[in-house]
Amino acid sequence: MLSIRQQLQQIFTATIKEIHGVDTDPMLQPAGRPEYGDYQANFALRLAKTLQKKPFDIANAVITKLQASPLFAKLEASGPGFINITLKDTALENQLQKLMTQEHLGLIKTPHPDTVVVDYSSANVAKEMHVGHLRTTIIGDAIARILNFLGHQVIRQNHIGDWGTQFGMLIEHLIESHWQVHQTADLTTLYQQAKKRFDEDKIFAERARARVVALQEGDKKSREIWQQLVKHSLQYFQSIYQKLDVLLVEKDVCGESFYNDKLNALVTELQQKNIAAVDQGAVVIFLKDFFDPDGNPLPMLIRKSDGGYLYATTDLAAIRYRIQELKANRLIYVVDARQKQHFDMLFAAAQVAGWADNTIRLEHVEYGTVLGEDHKPFKTRSGDTIKLNELLAEAEKRAAALILQKHPEIAAEELAQLANRVGIGALKYADLRNDKAKDYVFSWDRMLAFDGNTGPYLQNAYVRIAAIFRKSPVDVQALDAVSLHISSPIEHILAVKIAEFPDVVSAIANHLHLHYLCDYLYDLAGLFHKFYEHCPVLTVSDTRVRDSRLQWCVLTARTLKLGLNLLGIQVLERM
Ligand code: ARG
Repeated sequence: MLSIRQQLQQIFTATIKEIHGVDTDPMLQPAGRPEYGDYQANFALRLAKTLQKKPFDIANAVITKLQASPLFAKLEASGPGFINITLKDTALENQLQKLMTQEHLGLIKTPHPDTVVVDYSSANVAKEMHVGHLRTTIIGDAIARILNFLGHQVIRQNHIGDWGTQFGMLIEHLIESHWQVHQTADLTTLYQQAKKRFDEDKIFAERARARVVALQEGDKKSREIWQQLVKHSLQYFQSIYQKLDVLLVEKDVCGESFYNDKLNALVTELQQKNIAAVDQGAVVIFLKDFFDPDGNPLPMLIRKSDGGYLYATTDLAAIRYRIQELKANRLIYVVDARQKQHFDMLFAAAQVAGWADNTIRLEHVEYGTVLGEDHKPFKTRSGDTIKLNELLAEAEKRAAALILQKHPEIAAEELAQLANRVGIGALKYADLRNDKAKDYVFSWDRMLAFDGNTGPYLQNAYVRIAAIFRKSPVDVQALDAVSLHISSPIEHILAVKIAEFPDVVSAIANHLHLHYLCDYLYDLAGLFHKFYEHCPVLTVSDTRVRDSRLQWCVLTARTLKLGLNLLGIQVLERM
């Protein structure tokens, strides 16, 4: 089933070709204002030069031809040559009646599924997850959900930091201080203690370095403790994922250690291919177009002169593995914008090495920093980083307080469930609604407000519709799709909006701008409230009108629910 926009795209493209003899994109977009109609087509300006005609005449010739189509109520050339398009109510009704019978509201699975690796969350073992891991986890999860829903094969990769020299000091400290790993509730303390000793005690530092060697050589005791650390951290990550309602599970973990035994051969191979070379004892890859701040060529360091490997070396092994073994043709890395240069260089290196040809799409989804209300990186009052589990607990606590105000009698169990959905939903939505490339200011009050572009506002819109269904004298599930009619201008606008849903979601699969879906849902909820103000649903006496209005409620509720779910946010029946 084609969306309205796809139908417009087809008919305009064909007509432009027929009338003007050129293949061109009609440049459609939703109209900016109701007085411009429902959609606009802006191709005429661009064709003026090629066709040596006035844009207005180009537009009008197409309009004359399209006038007879049952899709349009009105076509009008405006300005220098835009076409304002108003759809016919019957065309919209037909479309929505079809859409209603489909489980996915017109969203169809792609006929060309990609195999997509989404690298997200990727926290570090023996360290607590902090606010810096929030965005990658939330954004990555929404991307994974949307691509998966559209039929792509999504492989989630949690590229945890579970290898490296820091494990020497951690293991050594654990052994010497008789820590039991299962007692290390506070991983930060462990890390800080070990680091302090490492920095202050030269002899300990030496033993820690020897411990790294032992670990790498497979020493049994060192490995055992390392494994316990990893296991313990994974359990802890998993508890956070569960609270956050993200899809990551243990089988998605493919950490740095997984690539460790592949690094030697990788570096040798790159040297043999003359892609990497020894430079002052180290091994580097020289890449075009990368320079340090002084304008000198900036090589990618892949083996230090002491033989040690780097973050970049592991990522090279990972990118090769993902392309060659996992057979991915799209690789999405959801990582902090501060790592931009690392990924630019990584992608360039993968291309030079011949692993990524132009059929492989490589994307660094970079996101900005979470700022406090003082517009500085978000920290606790005392200046410490904010631990993720404390942040999540606070979101739930604040949501619970809001819910209790409305329902003082609520049972504890239901309260806990609602508080999780509202608190976590608010947190996720606040993150997703902003252009992810920008920094965003974290504000509890704003994200938990019941009005404005917030999670609770959208959840509340759903709750209000659910309440209408509970009071309805007819079973809304049993209503026939044909009962839906457009009988007011607000219903027309609502119809256009609902019909746009598949276009919004499928565009995101390409450009990954999740905030477009947030804005869409926010507009939809706003239109619904307007509709509900002007068109009483249950009190209207004509049952045909009532059933039709109930159908608007059904369609809106289903769209809100699916849209929020694709972002990883749950709806509720009451709050
Ligand atoms: N563990 C890294 C960090 O905390 C993020 C890893 C991102 N993924 C990757 N393939 N480099 O910064």
